[in-house]
Amino acid sequence: MSSILCIGAGYVGGPTMAVIAKNCPQHRVVVVDANAERIAAWNSARLPIYEPGLDQVIAQARGRNLFFRTDTEAQIAAADIIFVSVNTPTKTFGEGAGRAANLQYWERAARQILEHSRTPKIVVEKSTLPVRTAEAMERILNSQPGRGVHFDVISNPEFLAEGSAIHDLEHPDRVLIGGKSTPSGRAAVEQIVAIYESWVPRERIITTNLWSGELAKLAANAFLAQRISSINAISALCERTGADITEVAHAIGTDSRIGPRFLRASVGFGGSCFRKDILNLVYLCEHHGLPEVAAYWEQVVLMNEYQQRRFGSVMLEAMFNTVAGKRIALFGAAFKANTGDTRESPALNVCRELLDERAELVITDPYALDNARADLGAAAERVEFEPDPYKAAQGAHAIAILTEWQQFAELDYEAIYRDMVKPAFIFDGRNILDHAQLHRLGFNVYAIGKPPLAHFD
Ligand code: NAD
Ligand code: UDX
Repeated sequence: MSSILCIGAGYVGGPTMAVIAKNCPQHRVVVVDANAERIAAWNSARLPIYEPGLDQVIAQARGRNLFFRTDTEAQIAAADIIFVSVNTPTKTFGEGAGRAANLQYWERAARQILEHSRTPKIVVEKSTLPVRTAEAMERILNSQPGRGVHFDVISNPEFLAEGSAIHDLEHPDRVLIGGKSTPSGRAAVEQIVAIYESWVPRERIITTNLWSGELAKLAANAFLAQRISSINAISALCERTGADITEVAHAIGTDSRIGPRFLRASVGFGGSCFRKDILNLVYLCEHHGLPEVAAYWEQVVLMNEYQQRRFGSVMLEAMFNTVAGKRIALFGAAFKANTGDTRESPALNVCRELLDERAELVITDPYALDNARADLGAAAERVEFEPDPYKAAQGAHAIAILTEWQQFAELDYEAIYRDMVKPAFIFDGRNILDHAQLHRLGFNVYAIGKPPLAHFD
């Protein structure tokens, strides 16, 4: 039996530890966070994040061998294995601002571990970190050799996607564990492998050296985002040429070398990871004297910004080049379906763009309105938040679908159309609606990468 601690009870720390605790009843798993409110929410009936299936896993393990606590110091002292799952946002100040990772939370955690450890520990990087951060972690942890406490540092990056986190954790494509090839490094890797082996087949557990573990995580996110930017780039050309992006994506994706997933053209990718991790990769390339490699990956982010701006421009142009004073209903605030998370959400970027054009905006979303309000800051005062999509669309000139929630595809658009200002517009930023049907109802329909279906030229 091991005592496992996780520092950071966020979108990764919470679900990951819940699944470990569920599958390893022999281990005690504690999650701590500097944010006491968040810990209180993890201990309540209303969890701090929305994630399908999370409630059930928490119900099974919480209080049995899963605990959410705020006494970080005592928990560090008691732990054998410490996962560090703190936030590593893009730096907003100083050198590398706008690109490099801000490592202040991560370093604080490392120093806390050092200060409160009296027995040997395995420290596991769960956060996404720049390559060679484990080395810095080791240096901090082993900076007081006189104390006689030995630390092994392991890289175990997380590949879960929000909205499917529990499924991804229960049935991962792979688990990646990077470690040193010293005898104690190898033993530490084996201890982490043993935890995952409780429910993940051994052949899906990949062990690498530390640096490969760190870089593989950044590279995987860059490749995934690159596919979206690639299909979005083609979607712009579709709109100019009369080709249909759904047909093109299908034709591309049936090539078994390419595969069908992550080829959904959209208003752009969002989420806390893709943009941050690619910019981090770009910064690393520049830092290591590889400007061509940096420029190559930066283009994935630039294309994503272009796609979001382009969506706003299409709306403006279709609506006779002015949206000032027009009520527009934004369907979706979350960065993707099945999450309440709005970090880097394209929905909020489109919202800001339309506010600049002085549109009157109403946002509807089943789970993300609170986060949207917080993320919009002062701009939120100029936006209405309405949980009912039918009410949001009442009296609107246009609807923009910005999150691919299934419930938006199942609404009664005939009833919605009746209550809208005419001509009524619908902009499908996720290609989830039946465009021909909407056109028959009277809507002027604009989708991503498809010829417009308008009732006038
Ligand atoms: P988050 O912001 O939701 O959670 C991080 C938590 O760490 C916060 O609650 C914060 O209060 C806490 N924290 C920070 N410093 C602390 C300290 N010293 N002591 C105690 N608590 C502290 O972030 P997240 O989305 O869970 O991401 C965590 C890491 O995992 C990031 O590096 C991210 O890149 C990576 N990651 C995220 C996802 C995802 O889908 N969100 C997926 C894979 C990897
Ligand atoms: C991503 C990675 O998938 C995951 O492995 C990593 O651990 C964290 O970052 P996440 O950001 O939670 O996960 O969700 P993901 O499903 O990757 O979607 C990211 C964004 O891309 C969303 O805005 C989504 O709507 C968009 N997307 C995804 C598309 O626009 N088209 C697609 O085909 C797929």
